[in-house]
Amino acid sequence: MADTLDSAPSPYRGLTFVWILTVLALFPILVILGFFLRALQADYMTKLRPEWFYAVMTLHGLGMVGTWYVGSMAGVSYLLSRYVKPSVVISRIAFGATLLGVVLLLACTLIGRLGVGWYFLYPLPLHSKGVWPAWATAAFLGSLGVFGVGWTIWSLDLLRAIAQRYSFSAAMAWHYLRGKQNPEVPPLVLIVTVSMVSSLAGFVAAVVLLVLYVLELLGGFNNDALLMKNLTFFFGHVLVNITMYLGVAVVYELLPAYAGRPWKTNKIMALAWNTVLFLVMFAYLHHLYMDFAQPQWLQYLGQISSYLISVPAAVVSIFGALLLVYRSRMRWNLVSLLMCFGVMGWAIGGVAAVIDSTVAVNLRFHNTLWVPAHFHTYYLMGVVLMILAFAYYLGEQGSGIAERQGLTKLIVALIVLGGYGFLMMFYYGGAHSVPRRYAHYPEEVSQGIGQARVALVFISLLLVGLALYLWETARRCFKALSASSASS
Ligand code: HEM
Repeated sequence: MADTLDSAPSPYRGLTFVWILTVLALFPILVILGFFLRALQADYMTKLRPEWFYAVMTLHGLGMVGTWYVGSMAGVSYLLSRYVKPSVVISRIAFGATLLGVVLLLACTLIGRLGVGWYFLYPLPLHSKGVWPAWATAAFLGSLGVFGVGWTIWSLDLLRAIAQRYSFSAAMAWHYLRGKQNPEVPPLVLIVTVSMVSSLAGFVAAVVLLVLYVLELLGGFNNDALLMKNLTFFFGHVLVNITMYLGVAVVYELLPAYAGRPWKTNKIMALAWNTVLFLVMFAYLHHLYMDFAQPQWLQYLGQISSYLISVPAAVVSIFGALLLVYRSRMRWNLVSLLMCFGVMGWAIGGVAAVIDSTVAVNLRFHNTLWVPAHFHTYYLMGVVLMILAFAYYLGEQGSGIAERQGLTKLIVALIVLGGYGFLMMFYYGGAHSVPRRYAHYPEEVSQGIGQARVALVFISLLLVGLALYLWETARRCFKALSASSASS
């Protein structure tokens, strides 16, 4: 139940506040960068050079992906400390590495104007054609390296902490598959184990990728473009999926406290999350449908895994959440509302992703605005809402500030209306073949300009909702923080 959270070790609580407040500070800045991108596409800044669009898009994309990855890691680490003991020192090291990586990223994008996009597809980082200097590429690869090291040891530490209490087979809930329920394994432990094992595989791919980049920079040979693309998307897709799963793990752990019912691991859940561990390794292949050189059997594997992966994690969790809430004495407040809307966003974004991962559809939707439409849905209206719920929850514990129902409804309405309005313009554009990543839309797709203008109105609504949310959450967090330091 929610109240037991306060029993988490106090050093971890303080550090979690630091992580979460950092995430909450970065988020509105990154949303404003997104507003800037849409404003450029709306032709409101025609005099600005397009290089700025790509530099800001890189900062926005990587910044958002990184911010919500660390936000979800901080959330699960804190909740995990109910059962096991993650290391505070390692989390601090990860925090330091993240800050250093952010500084390097800011320098290479805002000063160096590096505009490779969030997944820096080979060979673009090495061929700037004078748009950005060589140091910016080095700083960019350096920032990825620093993030990679910090986050790898953080993932390893969570596995270490779990391994101190549960054997690997117990943490993977294999005994549930054999019909046994002893020892009891919380869904949080199962999902974090699956996620950390997958993310380590992704980080290994990232290390190989970075080493190949550096070798090419030093040695003057050319890498295999197809191998580089496979490594890039394996790493990128796994990182994005893991962030989502960690957000869902937070929901598994917190929602029962609001529904007043337990949500325990069972055979189906164990089967589902074990299947995820296998399928997540292959689902990324749908990013390479357009690569004619990719062996055909891998394309089939990509199609099959992309369809199958939606069943275990998403369907089991979404139906599980619905069953938990159905006819329960739900305590509706900002936390439970955001979590339920987060699950909804995951479902909607997931369906849009499955549509796009269908070969016949991908032929039309590839590199259109449909792509940012679906990933913004399960990010912005999915995992972001789940972690915003966690942040509010953290502040709510021990702040003693009563919640105002009217304000809660207003915040949720503004975020949901603003968020989906913004997304609708991406979906509409994608369905009408408006390409993604265009700083200025040419005449053939000039309808994109009007869509970007409508999107700006909705982003503004979202920003108002976000400002109210941040005010309400930050004052609770600071009050709870000062209350806990006064009592310790
Ligand atoms: C209201 C909030 C947001 C706004 C206004 C916004 C806006 C945008 C825009 C306009 C683009 C460029 C679209 C194009 O390809 O033409 C973009 C790309 C992107 N955004 Fe967002 N975004 C928001 C939230 C998020 C969130 C929450 C995430 C992830 C957690 C995210 C991650 C990305 C990524 C990864 C890209 C792709 C960058 C690339 O193609 O290299 N955004 N966003």
